[in-house]
Amino acid sequence: MNNQTLAGAIGAAGLVIQIVLGFALSGSGSPTGSMLIFPHMLIGVAGIALLAFLVSSIFLTPSSMIARLVYAVAFLLTFAQVALGFRILAVPDNSLVMAHQGLAFVILVALGVGGMLSARSRRKSMMTAAAAPV
Ligand code: HEM
Repeated sequence: MNNQTLAGAIGAAGLVIQIVLGFALSGSGSPTGSMLIFPHMLIGVAGIALLAFLVSSIFLTPSSMIARLVYAVAFLLTFAQVALGFRILAVPDNSLVMAHQGLAFVILVALGVGGMLSARSRRKSMMTAAAAPV
């Protein structure tokens, strides 16, 4: 498993934990008073760094333009998600919480599609290399 795959796997697992934590926060009655907010904030901010690494590595390795685009969009959405999270902390508002929930699933889908596309282009380049005359 290379660094890119490892970062992708950690990112996907982290995102699922983050979504579970988010729902636990919402269910706790007082999200801002709950201790769960600290790991939720930490994973959210660390997610930006992790996606920055994934985006940079996908731009440095041969991969399709669409895979690069999907990762870049996921990175920007994560930024927006973290900003939204801080905004909800400052001004609790139901429509902001709904947007926060929606974005969480859009990021999850984007990472899944990005991972699938980059795995496919990596497999294609491996097969081309294997078929090339020595
Ligand atoms: C990638 C980053 C993040 C993801 C995927 C995420 C995901 C979620 C999800 C799915 C919920 C449940 C929403 C609902 O029940 O409708 C939630 C709730 C919440 N999140 Fe996040 N979150 C992220 C980052 C953050 C950050 C950085 C903060 C704060 C600085 C934050 C603050 C909150 C708060 C306060 C709630 C509870 C809202 C409420 O019910 O009043 N989130 N999050």
